[in-house]
Amino acid sequence: MPVGGPAVRVWDPLVRLGHWALVASVAAAWFTRHGGGVWHEWIGYAALAIVAFRILWGGMGSHYARFAQFIRAPSATITYARAVLTRTEPRYLGHNPLGGWMILALLAAVIAVGLSGWLYTTDTYWGVEWVERLHDTLADILLILVAVHVGGVIFASRRHRENLVAAMIHGRKRPAEPGES
Ligand code: HEM
Ligand code: HEM
Repeated sequence: MPVGGPAVRVWDPLVRLGHWALVASVAAAWFTRHGGGVWHEWIGYAALAIVAFRILWGGMGSHYARFAQFIRAPSATITYARAVLTRTEPRYLGHNPLGGWMILALLAAVIAVGLSGWLYTTDTYWGVEWVERLHDTLADILLILVAVHVGGVIFASRRHRENLVAAMIHGRKRPAEPGES
């Protein structure tokens, strides 16, 4: 048994399934980006549907799934970022403040990529170069955010000596110690 008692359930099954389905659909959209035709479009719509579900779940889901639980005020987020720089940041059982804002950025980026892709398929904007460029640039931005996200996950895993990727698979984490939330 880990120090501090048995592991606690943090990520509910829909958060976990949603996360890995979103990863799979964004990856599949990326690999079908050239000449993927209708496959690419439907995979992109699937990513949009997962994000729509995640937004709903952020309002009515389990405790740690709720936006109100992990979106912190800018001041608290800056305080946390400063603590990261001095290597004194507290551990969070749910998403940490920087991770919380990154989640909003990732969800917004998928929406922006998906909507611009849809726009490109409409009669009015089909073949219009700036729309294609917009879709391409937004996809690049999404990819950069994903890289920073994965970097943050690895960083936090090392800092707090826990495997956050495994936690996103089985849903459990080491219990909070005094002073942790
Ligand atoms: C997460 C979702 C998506 C990602 C990451 C993504 C990414 C990309 C990328 C990188 C390209 C190549 C652009 C270029 O080099 O000019 C592309 C092309 C395209 N995307 Fe998406 N896309 C997504 C969703 C969508 C959706 C929802 C639609 C439409 C319903 C769509 C429609 C298109 C079309 C029509 C093209 C041009 C395809 C071609 O030239 O063969 N995409 N997408
Ligand atoms: C397309 C790529 C990705 C997207 C769009 C994405 C998006 C997200 C989102 C929206 C969340 C919040 C989960 C929730 O509360 O519902 C999240 C959390 C998380 N993601 Fe990803 N993710 C991506 C790739 C990855 C990859 C490749 C990994 C593994 C290395 C990963 C590991 C995690 C972990 C461990 C968390 C929980 C972070 C924490 O403990 O606070 N993600 N991701």
